[in-house]
Amino acid sequence: MRKALGLMLMLAVLLGLTGCSEKQENAENPKLLLGFSQLGSESSYRIGNTKDIEEQAAACGISLMMKNANQKQENQIADIRSLIAYRVDVIAFSPIVEEGWDTVLTEAKKAGIPVVLVDRTIQTRDESLYAAQIGSDFYKEGVMAAEYLIRKADRMELDQIRIVEIRGTENSTPMKQRQQGFMDTIAGDARMRVLDSVDGDFLRSRGAECMRKMLETYGDQIDAVFSHNDEMTIGALPEIEAAGYTPGKDILLISIDGGQDAIDLLKEGKINCIVECTPKLGAVLMETAMKLKRGETVERVIHPEEQVFTDEQDLSQLAPRGY
Ligand code: AHR
Repeated sequence: MRKALGLMLMLAVLLGLTGCSEKQENAENPKLLLGFSQLGSESSYRIGNTKDIEEQAAACGISLMMKNANQKQENQIADIRSLIAYRVDVIAFSPIVEEGWDTVLTEAKKAGIPVVLVDRTIQTRDESLYAAQIGSDFYKEGVMAAEYLIRKADRMELDQIRIVEIRGTENSTPMKQRQQGFMDTIAGDARMRVLDSVDGDFLRSRGAECMRKMLETYGDQIDAVFSHNDEMTIGALPEIEAAGYTPGKDILLISIDGGQDAIDLLKEGKINCIVECTPKLGAVLMETAMKLKRGETVERVIHPEEQVFTDEQDLSQLAPRGY
C-alpha cells in the first residue's frame, strides 16, 4: 500500500513537472508535430531553453522539429519557411530581433499554421500573425535590477552611483525592455548617473571587450555595471580583476538570467544581484501547442514568475538551477 502511494506521488510530481496530463494520443491529446526555430546558442539561457523544449516535447509525446539559426535573422526566416513547407501543425520560434517577420508569418498564416512566439516578441501591424507569446516580462526584469541598485545605495549610504550598461542584442525585446525598465526606475533617483551604454550582443566575448574598453575610458569612475545577461557579466569579470578592481566591492555587478555559473559567482561575492530570466518555457509551450491543435483559444501573453537573487540573501539552500 505504502509502495503504491509512493509511486502515485512520484507520478503526480512527474506530471506536475512536465505539465502533461496524458502522453497517449486521443482526442484530448492529438498527434502533434511542433516546429521550433531557435535563434542560436549564444548563452547558457539559450542552451537551457533548447534543452527544456526538447525534454518537454518528449515528455508530452509531441514530435519536435528543432532548427537553430546561429544568431542570424535570415537563417531563422529560412528555417520557418522550411517548417511551413514541411506542414508542421504548429510553429514556435524565438525571434532574434523584433522587426522583419511579417512576410514569413503571413506565409504561415496562409498555410493555416498557428504561430507561437517563445521568449521574445515581435513588432507587427497585424497582430493576427501569431496566436500567443510565452516569455519573460523583460521590462519588470529591468525594474527589479534597478530596485536592487537603489536599495544597495541606501544601505551603503552612497551619494552617487556611476553606472555602465552592457546591452543585449540590438533591437531584441530583452535589450529594449530591460533597458527601459532600468532607466525608468533610476530616473527619479538623483544619485544614479549612466556613464555609458554599449552593445555586448549577449555574448561572453563581447562582454569582455565592452568592459575592457569602458575601464580604459572611465577607470575608477565606474561604480556599477548593469549587464543584460550572465554571459556578458562572466566575460566582464576577469577584465575588472585585470584592471585591479574587486568585482562585487569596488564595482557592483548586476546581471540577468540566473544560470548556475553566475549564481556560483554571486555566492562568491563577485556578482551582487542576478534577476532571474527563466528559460524553462517548454511545459507551457507544449500545453499551448496542444490547445492550438485542438482548435481551442489560448492565452495571448504568458509571463513566467521570476525572482531576484542578491547578496542580501542566504543562497546556501538554493536548488541547482539546471542551466
Ligand atoms: O531573450 C532572453 C535572453 O537571451 C537571455 O537573457 C540571454 O541570456 C539570451 O541570450
